[in-house]
Amino acid sequence: MPSLRSESAGGAALSEVSEFVGHPRVHVLPATPALLAAHTLIRDREASREVFTTHSRRVFRMLLEAAVGLLPSERNAVLTPAGHVFEGLVVTEKACAVSVVRAGESLESELWAVVPGMRLGKILIQRDKSTKQPRLYYFHLPPDMEHQHVLLLEPMLATGGSLLAALDVLAEAGTPSSSVIAVNVMSSPPGLERVLDEHPDLTIVTSSVERDLDENAFMVPGIGDFGDRYFGTDVARP
Ligand code: PRP
Repeated sequence: MPSLRSESAGGAALSEVSEFVGHPRVHVLPATPALLAAHTLIRDREASREVFTTHSRRVFRMLLEAAVGLLPSERNAVLTPAGHVFEGLVVTEKACAVSVVRAGESLESELWAVVPGMRLGKILIQRDKSTKQPRLYYFHLPPDMEHQHVLLLEPMLATGGSLLAALDVLAEAGTPSSSVIAVNVMSSPPGLERVLDEHPDLTIVTSSVERDLDENAFMVPGIGDFGDRYFGTDVARP
């Protein structure tokens, strides 16, 4: 199976630390004005749920387009309505997505906007509220996982424990981490280090590398509990 592309997205990145910018396995989205504006809206503690969900989806779309762009592809020509040849490309390999429930489900609608009908597995992992350790409750994956490239949808990479637990499930099903692209809104330096130590051939697409983790395993400056804010299970908000 051809390996994933490894060239970096290029351009300035939204990162509080330089360590992972230009890292061959970590693709940090370029900090375009559109990305910065969306991050400003969703990080604001006063953001309404409508603002939070709408602008999170803009970030998801940018991440998913970047991740799909890393899947193996080949040249493909089409004829335009004007009768001319357009030399484009087409994804060649089997690819599916797996979301880490609950927060990972938030990326599913944008995934299907970018790749309609892509097969989608689920892994239910929850961090224990006090120990912050991940616990696996359930998974259901598409068939043929040993031949699939996988977009692993997990918006937060804090300690990295949940992502590592999800990678264990995929490995058990036959998908090596070299065939996995983790799609992630924000990541912490210690989390990235931990995950890449165990899986140096994993690919990560993220929109921000944060400054640090606090004592409650939340990222700094961060966004709070993403799942709670996205699904409206945090404090009452308009
Ligand atoms: C949060 C977040 C990630 C995970 C990241 O999920 O959404 O899934 O923690 O933390 P880690 O890198 O330290 O493991 P949580 O378990 O709170 O569940 P949720 O998806 O229901 O919000």
